[in-house]
Amino acid sequence: MITVSGLNKHFNHFKALSEVNFSIKRSEVVSVIGPSGSGKSTLLRSLNLLVKPDSGTLQIGNQQIQAESLTRKQIASFRRQTSMVFQHYNLFKNKTALENITEILIYTHGVKKNEAKERGMALLAQVGLAHKADAYPATLSGGQQQRVGIARALSVEPQVILLDEPTSSLDPEIRREVLNLIASLADKNLTMMIVTHEMSFARDVSDRIFFMEQGKIIEQGKPNQIFTASTENRTRTFLHDFA
Ligand SMILES: Nc1ncnc2c1ncn2[C@@H]1O[C@H](COP(=O)(O)OP(=O)(O)O)[C@@H](O)[C@H]1O
Ligand SMILES: [Mg+2]
Repeated sequence: MITVSGLNKHFNHFKALSEVNFSIKRSEVVSVIGPSGSGKSTLLRSLNLLVKPDSGTLQIGNQQIQAESLTRKQIASFRRQTSMVFQHYNLFKNKTALENITEILIYTHGVKKNEAKERGMALLAQVGLAHKADAYPATLSGGQQQRVGIARALSVEPQVILLDEPTSSLDPEIRREVLNLIASLADKNLTMMIVTHEMSFARDVSDRIFFMEQGKIIEQGKPNQIFTASTENRTRTFLHDFA
């Protein structure tokens, strides 16, 4: 589903991603862990071209691009392969929960208004928020806003869902509701990449874990291997500091 090779990104003189290579199969769930500043967000943002990579070949679904030579048209169609769930939800504040979903369907995906509304309502029901369809983000709890963010990400039926610390802004007692929702999606054959600091969650939902440090994936493996039989000192130190 995803193949990335030779991905590089620098900001000024700082190398945020350095020769990153990996591939992810359809319906695989991969969690990306690692210290702050290791390039996790830059990696996810490169996959939907919110960050423009300096070099590398990226393939998602049936679209392949070469970072050095990107046309506007390629950028637009490549972006449609993924959707992103952000730490700070990034909802439109002046739109209702339902409109936050339908606007994207109508204006960027050409879905008819009635159909967009139907799909939006079905998704809100799926995330347990049908009764909040007409509510504005400011009147919703953080957990509810993030559930709208997740419903919006699902609405465009992307090949891959990218989640960047989806629960980091939430109070501990609300985190569980969003983690449970993500875990239920992980069971549904969706392909997902999740940047998270929730280690027990990562261990439970992931098929594989990537550990990043200094712009590289320095270790990857099944959760059990990473958490109990890591071969890298740096991974063990990081996990130890977290425990
Ligand atoms: N837009 C940017 N401009 C300059 N530096 C950036 C930018 N985005 C990220 N960086 C730098 O790149 C490094 C990796 O950032 P990031 O991918 O956000 O790390 P993580 O998500 O693992 O915490 C950090 O040192 C960060 O300061
Ligand atoms: Mg980050």
